[in-house]
Amino acid sequence: MQIRFAASRPEGSHALVLPVAGLDRSGLESLGGSRAAVEAAARLQRFDGEAGGAAESFIDDNGTARRVVLVGIGSKGEESAEKLGGTAVARLLTSGETRAVIDLSGLGYSADAAGKVALAASLRGWRYDKYRTKLKDKQKPTLTELVIVGAADGAEARWTERYEPVLKGSSLTRELVTEPANIIYPESFVERCRKAMEGTGLEIEVLDQARMEELGMGALLGVSQGSVRKPQLLIMKWNGGAHGEAPVALIGKGVTFDTGGISIKPAAGMESMKWDMGGAGAVAGAMLSIAARKAKANVVGLCGLVENMPDGNAQRPGDVVTSMSGQTIEVINTDAEGRLVLGDVMTYAQRTFGPKRIVDLATLTGAMVISLGHEYAGVFSNDDGLANELIAAGTATGDKLWRMPIGEAYDQLINSPIADIKNVGPREGGSITAAQFLQRFVDDGVKWAHLDIAGVAWSEKASSTYDKGATGYGVRLLDAFVEATAEK
Ligand code: BES
Ligand code: MN
Ligand code: ZN
Repeated sequence: MQIRFAASRPEGSHALVLPVAGLDRSGLESLGGSRAAVEAAARLQRFDGEAGGAAESFIDDNGTARRVVLVGIGSKGEESAEKLGGTAVARLLTSGETRAVIDLSGLGYSADAAGKVALAASLRGWRYDKYRTKLKDKQKPTLTELVIVGAADGAEARWTERYEPVLKGSSLTRELVTEPANIIYPESFVERCRKAMEGTGLEIEVLDQARMEELGMGALLGVSQGSVRKPQLLIMKWNGGAHGEAPVALIGKGVTFDTGGISIKPAAGMESMKWDMGGAGAVAGAMLSIAARKAKANVVGLCGLVENMPDGNAQRPGDVVTSMSGQTIEVINTDAEGRLVLGDVMTYAQRTFGPKRIVDLATLTGAMVISLGHEYAGVFSNDDGLANELIAAGTATGDKLWRMPIGEAYDQLINSPIADIKNVGPREGGSITAAQFLQRFVDDGVKWAHLDIAGVAWSEKASSTYDKGATGYGVRLLDAFVEATAEK
């Protein structure tokens, strides 16, 4: 879907979208003689102008029928900008209309809010129909162009310079998350990223299995050894900040399929483990967004990419592996594999790049979904300032975070009788002991936050910025976090 900004409504056929703030109908004046009928139709649909609501009518416009969609924005503030763009596109995407016009005249939206209308509209319009070869015409998207009129000066630049990069990043993440595991595995994940990142100035480096063996990444490699797919450690560097300044490190869990390994998962629902690389997907998308908007910050993204499979060479429960940090790990449950991957990537990141701050993202535990459901991801951190900055970025972007506890008593639960650590604690507090495991790989003086995104990377229901499926969670959060904390 193409987004365009224009001074006035274009000629020719289009659906017209008009924002309505609650019961205030002053925005409908431009409908002229059709206004009364549109208002009556809205009343019949019990439209009350609440944010996210919509009502449709058809008016006679010089002898042709024009669809008019009223979209509720609640109060007149800018908070509903995203709901406006998203709701309009959700309504019109497969409606038969090819062009829509959103008229912001008289709303008083800033250029930034108009940019957010465009972002939400384009995010909501994202689909992945690659494998749907028999889609009926009626089910296919028709909307190809969205024209935003009446926006404040500078809105178009705000879109192209600040928000279109976020769309690019989110689209990459969603694509990686949506693709099945026979298509996206560690090497093809890397290739997709290389293609998407070409010409952006991102520096890409990849560690292969031999290199990881040299480095002693026994924890990551132990997870990978039951799969015929070769593991990869993808590193994406963006140096937009001061020369020599320590980067922020973003680290993603990239288990391209998680069968559980020898501690195999039940069959029901196992297909969803194709998106167990959602953390890595979010990191890749965020790096693309940060680079595409030329952020003035030094950021390094690292994705630990493996497939967790059971075969004759797979690791067994009870195996002891030695991580790159030197710490030994008793693998009690081969399905607690994400933490094994992340531990080694964290060690590598700290030794190689000397970051002062690390943020990792992972679809790490089913227990996280039990705790917070699908509304918030959990944030675990050894630093209140860092946690609060992430929570603030989440509130600003809609990628919401809720603080979870960590501490000494939880840490004791993962002591092993045979090795330094075991990879699972008791069932209770499963997300917290997973975080404690990761914290054992954080060096002194490093501020670290872990985001458990198991409940939010995928959605069974649509929202105003995504359809069912991959949400792209984390891209906007990390992008806004970098803007607020690392850019000068
Ligand atoms: N990838 C899963 C966690 C997960 C579950 C993500 C559901 C998204 C939705 C992770 O690797 C896993 O299997 N965790 C286990 C840990 C347990 C063995 C301690 C879990 O949560 O059951
Ligand atoms: Mn698992
Ligand atoms: Zn997993």
